Amino acid sequence: MNDQTALITGASSGIGFELARCFARDDYRVVLVARHLDELREAARLLHQEFEEVDIVLLPFDLSRPDSPDQLYAETTARGLQIDALVNDAGFGETGYFSDTDVDTELAIIQVNVAALVHLTKLYLRDMQARNVGRILQVGSLSSFTPSPCQAVYAATKAFVLSFTEAVQHELKQQKSAVTMTVLCPPPTDTNFFRTAHAENTRAAQHTASARQVAQEGYDVLMDGGARSLPTMSAKVNFFTSLVLPDTMLATIMNNQLHPAA
Ligand SMILES: NC(=O)c1ccc[n+]([C@@H]2O[C@H](COP(=O)([O-])OP(=O)(O)OC[C@H]3O[C@@H](n4cnc5c(N)ncnc54)[C@H](OP(=O)(O)O)[C@@H]3O)[C@@H](O)[C@H]2O)c1
Repeated sequence: MNDQTALITGASSGIGFELARCFARDDYRVVLVARHLDELREAARLLHQEFEEVDIVLLPFDLSRPDSPDQLYAETTARGLQIDALVNDAGFGETGYFSDTDVDTELAIIQVNVAALVHLTKLYLRDMQARNVGRILQVGSLSSFTPSPCQAVYAATKAFVLSFTEAVQHELKQQKSAVTMTVLCPPPTDTNFFRTAHAENTRAAQHTASARQVAQEGYDVLMDGGARSLPTMSAKVNFFTSLVLPDTMLATIMNNQLHPAA
């Protein structure tokens, strides 16, 4: 054990699970957060299978509930867990034209992807600042850089994550803090994301990166204290495209990628 603890939200599957694997391999104690206890237990079983000695804490919380971040923080404090690395990975999307999609689903997306991320960052960053050490990984998306018709709310939440992270990164530098914050912007990745977002039938879902590769690249940048991770070559190309094309053209491309096939 390296005596450090990483708390990973959304750790039961996909990119979050693979990030938990990276920490477990480096002998961190891992605190796994997601809604479903059965899936957290399965994630813990897989981690134990690979890393026998890993210390795992399972904390089932629904981050779409506004009181969950405070309760999660209180729980880790009550258990005496000092969080050395925080990963805000939990998130989901919905697909369809905004006038057709369900507002309660979209408000929950905003609560999980934005409000819970901000709230958990506030709670754990203050402790890290007091110790002047710690790392935070915020999971954004390639869609942080592009307006995305058919996932308008989801992409807007990820634009928020990017803007918020870059602003706080600057503040940390101004404060001469040793705490680092990194934003991971994955390309379409092979996880449960597309099923949950009702986007399995879209072009974007047809060419996906592996969650393991995405997580490993993000983890490496986090451990280097880097500002931004854009995993895979195609993500880097898409990012540079987003810098040169006008938003209207990007929106047309994204509509093409995200409109469910007939
Ligand atoms: N896959 C992609 O193409 C892609 C691309 C760019 C960015 N991302 C981002 O990557 C992150 C991880 O997604 P993924 O692709 O790995 O999808 P995933 O396999 O569906 O994983 C999502 C994780 O978040 C948890 N979660 C969902 N709603 C939650 C809630 N209300 N409270 C607590 N936990 C919740 C899920 O567990 P429970 O369902 O048990 O709660 C699961 O552990 C998300 O922020 C997503 O936006 C994904």
